[in-house]
Amino acid sequence: MARAPLIDGHGRTIGDLRLSVTDRCNFRCQYCMPAEGLPWLDREEVLHFEEIERLVALFAELGIRDVRLTGGEPLVRRDFPRLVSMLSPLVDDLAITTNGFLLERDAEALVRAGATRFNVSIDSLQRDRFFEMTRRDALPRVLKGLETLAAFPEAHPIKVNAVAVRGFTEQEALPFARFAREHPYQIRFIEFMPLDADRTWSPEQVLTGEELRAAIHAVYPLEPEPREAHATARVYRFADGQGHIGFINPVSEPFCGDCNRIRLTADGKLRTCLFSLNETDLRAPLRSGATDDELEQVIRDAVWRKELKHHVNDPGFIQPARSMSAIGG
Ligand code: 5AD
Ligand code: SF4
Repeated sequence: MARAPLIDGHGRTIGDLRLSVTDRCNFRCQYCMPAEGLPWLDREEVLHFEEIERLVALFAELGIRDVRLTGGEPLVRRDFPRLVSMLSPLVDDLAITTNGFLLERDAEALVRAGATRFNVSIDSLQRDRFFEMTRRDALPRVLKGLETLAAFPEAHPIKVNAVAVRGFTEQEALPFARFAREHPYQIRFIEFMPLDADRTWSPEQVLTGEELRAAIHAVYPLEPEPREAHATARVYRFADGQGHIGFINPVSEPFCGDCNRIRLTADGKLRTCLFSLNETDLRAPLRSGATDDELEQVIRDAVWRKELKHHVNDPGFIQPARSMSAIGG
């Protein structure tokens, strides 16, 4: 049955769903989780595969054709490739954001299950600095996972994301630029956002995309690519034709204006912005026998109230209670 597209109160058509499949993670990145981890959801609180499948089928009817699976770390969810195979027939693009730790084990199964795009998070190309940022001495293993994935032509183009933190990432700019020039990966720096569980974020800690771009441009000249609609990254090509690099600048250059994304947490809460202060429960209606029409109405009402923009740069900004791992990047 065809349903009308999902439109918010500011005229934006929603076409992209970020879906967290678990709040758990095997890393403890400084900008996301505390060293001791977080109180995890109980198994019963987390949506079952069949519940996720039903919601994604409904979202697809509502015009959402791009779904990105996130966590926590999605690959720690048991039987995750099976979930991918259940969802991939329902959408055009099924992407996965992962820290790469389990990619050597799972890359083949995920590609076979129909995952079409991958983002792998790597914050440093130096082992000790990677350890410092993620609190796991796992760089060699993550790079091995990335190579395993890259061996599958269907997995390309592969994106590699590095969170940019002042006092840390300056030293990573040129190594990542060289990495982008030597490998078939698009590297993207993401400005540090106030979504860390430790709440140590401050505006001074944001190393802006423009600063990184200028540092790279001084050594390897860059030329801008046109911005695609709804894109988070500003993409540049190396002027000599050797690869691309991108900058995701949610703090210094917000891209809320044409944001077409919504998020679903592992416990079934719909969030219309990373920085939402309220969320809409889909799990309760789902588990109490709501029809698709009833669920559609709940989703439509929530989407209508999607935030115009975030207020990270405004006085009085309030950081949401959930950290990135509990929201789903
Ligand atoms: N600011 C910016 N990016 C973050 N991520 C996690 N926490 C933050 C934060 N506070 C990134 C991860 C990963 C993606 C899911 O989100 O590094 O690339
Ligand atoms: Fe885990 Fe990702 Fe958070 Fe790092 S950023 S702790 S890999 S969920």
